Amino acid sequence: MTVIRRARRDFGRFRMACRAWMNDRRLDRTIRQALRSDRISDEQIAAIERGWANPKPGFVADSSYLRAVVDRAADGGQGAVVECGTGVSTILLAIVAQRTGRLTVSLEHDERWHGRVARVLARNGLNRAKVVLAPLQGADGDAWYGVSPEQLPEQVTLCVCDGPPGALADRGLAVARLGSRLVPGAEVFFDDTDRSEERAAVERWVAEFGLHVVEEGARWTMLETARN
Ligand SMILES: C[S@@+](CC[C@H](N)C(=O)[O-])C[C@H]1O[C@@H](n2cnc3c(N)ncnc32)[C@H](O)[C@@H]1O
Repeated sequence: MTVIRRARRDFGRFRMACRAWMNDRRLDRTIRQALRSDRISDEQIAAIERGWANPKPGFVADSSYLRAVVDRAADGGQGAVVECGTGVSTILLAIVAQRTGRLTVSLEHDERWHGRVARVLARNGLNRAKVVLAPLQGADGDAWYGVSPEQLPEQVTLCVCDGPPGALADRGLAVARLGSRLVPGAEVFFDDTDRSEERAAVERWVAEFGLHVVEEGARWTMLETARN
């Protein structure tokens, strides 16, 4: 490698590191502001998305989904929250948990991604929410987070389902795997229900598990488990 090519490469790396450092500073500043606010604002949600800077925008939940999830987590009582798939939504749920004290457990299959999310929470003292590393287990249509019963809360009143990635697993397994831990009347947010796989999962949840649809966004659906 020539001296010029090496210098270009090093400069490119330096620029990326500076950008990541600035995004982190911006993210931390917004988290501090959000912790001081009565309600996380739309602007704060957008600033947290920008600071998190997911390089693949297709993996980020849309803002109306994030808004609805934050509002339900903040207003929806004291039972536990379980999130499947982590990112911006995890940071938002952790800010809410810091205020409400609501037990919040987020499942992540990918070790590097888990590290990235956990570092943001730790750096900002968001210690009420847990991010559990749960590599996928099972084969073909049966793969889901490999999580032991003691890692999951006993009584889940809110499930926020945006993972695992559809290319790796069937995220529609969430309701069956959480089973009776989803209490009667529990709310289930499901992202990407404009896609055929997620649509089919919604239909399965309604037909086989007795959930009903409460609200629909352009790309997401909120359901509720049957009240006995
Ligand atoms: C759809 S994402 C979850 C997004 C999250 N709800 C949010 O608000 O940012 C589901 C999973 O995709 C993976 N993921 C997220 N961003 C990714 C990226 N840029 N490249 C590869 N995998 C990614 C992570 O493992 C994550 O748990």
